[in-house]
This record gives sequence, structure tokens and C-alpha cells, in this order.
Amino acid sequence: MNIVVSVTGGIAAYKTVHLVRLLIKAGHDVTVVPTEDALRFVGTPTWEAISRNPVTTSVHDDVARVRHVALGQNADLVIVAPATANSIAKMTAGIADDLFGTTLLATEAPVLIAPAMHAEMWRHPATQANIATLRTRGVSIVGPADGELAGGDSGPGRMSEPEEILDAALALLVPRDLDGLKVAISAGGTREPIDPVRFLGNRSSGRQGTALAAEAAARGAEVVLVAANISADVLAEAQHPSILIRHAGSAAELSATMKEVAADAAVVIMAAAVADYRPVTVSDRKLTKEGGGVPAIELAENEDIVAALVSTRRPGQIIVGFAAETPEDEQEMLARARRKQQRKGVDLLVVNEVGWERGFERADNAVHILGQDGAEAGSASGSKREVAGAVWNAVNAVRSRWRG
Ligand code: C5P
Repeated sequence: MNIVVSVTGGIAAYKTVHLVRLLIKAGHDVTVVPTEDALRFVGTPTWEAISRNPVTTSVHDDVARVRHVALGQNADLVIVAPATANSIAKMTAGIADDLFGTTLLATEAPVLIAPAMHAEMWRHPATQANIATLRTRGVSIVGPADGELAGGDSGPGRMSEPEEILDAALALLVPRDLDGLKVAISAGGTREPIDPVRFLGNRSSGRQGTALAAEAAARGAEVVLVAANISADVLAEAQHPSILIRHAGSAAELSATMKEVAADAAVVIMAAAVADYRPVTVSDRKLTKEGGGVPAIELAENEDIVAALVSTRRPGQIIVGFAAETPEDEQEMLARARRKQQRKGVDLLVVNEVGWERGFERADNAVHILGQDGAEAGSASGSKREVAGAVWNAVNAVRSRWRG
């Protein structure tokens, strides 16, 4: 992607050098557009060396290629980091007396700004009014963070760290190809109570399901995430205005909640690891050793929730299942997965190998995605967010096939 990074005149410009490096490492073509003031903090040779593209500040350079508008027109994203109070005011007013100003006026790409200034300047009604105006125009704002500022002050005004700006930037580059789509996702692992303090459970962390929710929301979907015993730090990734989180503990609770939310969903993904069995009796009081002997826990089979959702689905609803397998080899894994896909009747089955060192509780994953005919509809490996992207691409392929 073509990304323009506009640097305005603040000390935080030194942190933007690292941001440009991160963007280049992520495979983007970056053009840096500093203001004259910004060059007093970090000079042209640094920006050119780090971005590997020519750097100018004036509208009178490279006139033959109409650089003053071409940069903005060709950009897929414009980032302003640091965005000073002055540059925010200029953006709000549409002032275009340098390459920074013309680029911002000429672009129709998403714009992300990372404000950096003294706390008083940030809190000033003029700046706050400008920020509010920029927000109504669809400009995204990352930060400012609370912390130490130049000159020993502290408060809100510190530019966000480059990694955080990168995440916000990448989120803006995601296609909005699930716009308005209602989806229901289960994630995590159920706990089947034995007594008030013990349960039968599994090692699913909920990371893959949470990543599916975050990716769907970033691509424009309205998501209900049914979380089965997911820790707060994992669930933090699903903090998004378009994600509603519901909690479910046991398979029975997950079943009731999924049936309720699936009624309203165009796509249902059962990423949760559901216990196949539950203790027949749940003791009201903690089991103790005092009774003597080793307790025998009698088990009853749980309902297959995804199969039940398939049997009651409304026309056009797409249902995706997951299968975690511990096979001898890949061939065995795919053969088992194909049988599972047939048995459950899901439109897509996402298969991943799990084990002591694989799949569960980890940040990365590797999956095969099987279609209704058992043929491979996709595969992915990488971060769970990357895998989530591949799953949604496969869902979109089914949607377009069904639409004809
Ligand atoms: O049969 P298995 O547990 O491998 O199937 C996994 C898939 O089925 C997952 O999508 C899981 O959420 C779903 N499942 C279910 N109800 C169960 C067991 C699994 O919906 N009782």
C-alpha cells in the first residue's frame, strides 16, 4: 500500500522515524512529507534513508508530476505523526500553504493523526473543537497518551508509541467487506461443573475466536462474541464499538446463548471448544476426601450445539465450525475433518492441529479451511489475527457464491 507519513514540527518526530521503519517492514511504500518546522527536529537525509523515497516540503518541487496533489491522490492512507496543535488547526481550516496541507486536501484516503503537544495546548477549547471537527470528517485519532512531556511536564499530550500508531494504521487499511453483516461467534472453552469449585474444562484460551471477532468488526461487521471463560487480557482485543460480548460458562449456557444470538445472525462461527460430556450430577457442596475412596464421575453427553444450529438455521445463514485435531499426519487430519464436516453439516470447517505445543494458548495458528464439498477452501498460518482474516475471506467467498 502507498502510505504518506506527514511529520509536523514536534519533538516526537524522532519517534516517527521508528514508525516509518515499522511500516516499511510491514511491506508498505512510504513517502514522508515533513513540514519545514519538522525538519528542524529530524532532517531530510534521515527521512530519505529510512523511507527510501525522495522527501520534499514544498509545492514547487517536482511540479511536472503535480506532486502537490499526486501524493494525496495516490495514497491508500495518510498518517500525521506527530500532529502538533498548529497542524491540527491548519488541517481543520483546510489551509494548504505547503506540501503537507495540499496532500491532506487532495486525499480521499483514510487519515490517521497522532497528536503530540503540551497538555495545556491539548486541553485548550480551540484544539478540542478542531479535534471534534476532524472526527466528524472521519479522521481517526490515536492518542495522545498520558505521560512525561518535553520540558519535564506531564499529562495528556505525549505522542502514542510507534507500535500503537502502526496497529491503528493497519486497522484502517483493512477492507470494509463485511459492512453491516451481523455475525455471532463463540470462543473460549466451556467448563462443566463437578461441584462449586471444580470443573471439567479444556485449554482453549479464546484467542482465535476473539481474533475472529476483532477482524470482523474491523471489516465492518456487527459482532456478538459469546465468550466461554476467556481471560480479560485476551478479551481486551475484542474491545470495539461493534462487538457485544456475552458470557457463557458451561456447554448448556453456551447452547442457550448461541441459539438466541444466532437467530439474528447472517454468519455463525463456533470457534469455542465445547465439552462433549458433563458430569451427570453436580454436587451442591465441595466433594471431600472424607467420604473415603476415589469418586467416580458419571458423564452424560452434551448436545452438539453447532449441529443443532445447522438443523434450525434460517435460509442463507452461513455456519462455520472448528475442529481441533491431534492426528498422526496431515492426511489423517483432513480425512477426519471431512467426516466431521459432513456429520455436522457446516458450510466451512476450520481445521487445526493441536497438541501440547500447538494451537491452544498460543499467539499463532495454522489451519486448513474445508468447504461443503470437503475441498480445501483456503489455508493460513501466522498470527491468529491473520488466520481470522483467511477465515473471513473464505466466508466471503461462500457469500458471493450463494448470491450468484
Ligand atoms: O466434534 P468436535 O468437538 O471436534 O467439533 C468441534 C466443532 O463443533 C466446533 O465448532 C465446536 O464449537 C462444535 N461443538 C459443538 N457442540 C459440542 C461439541 C463441539 O457445537 N458439544
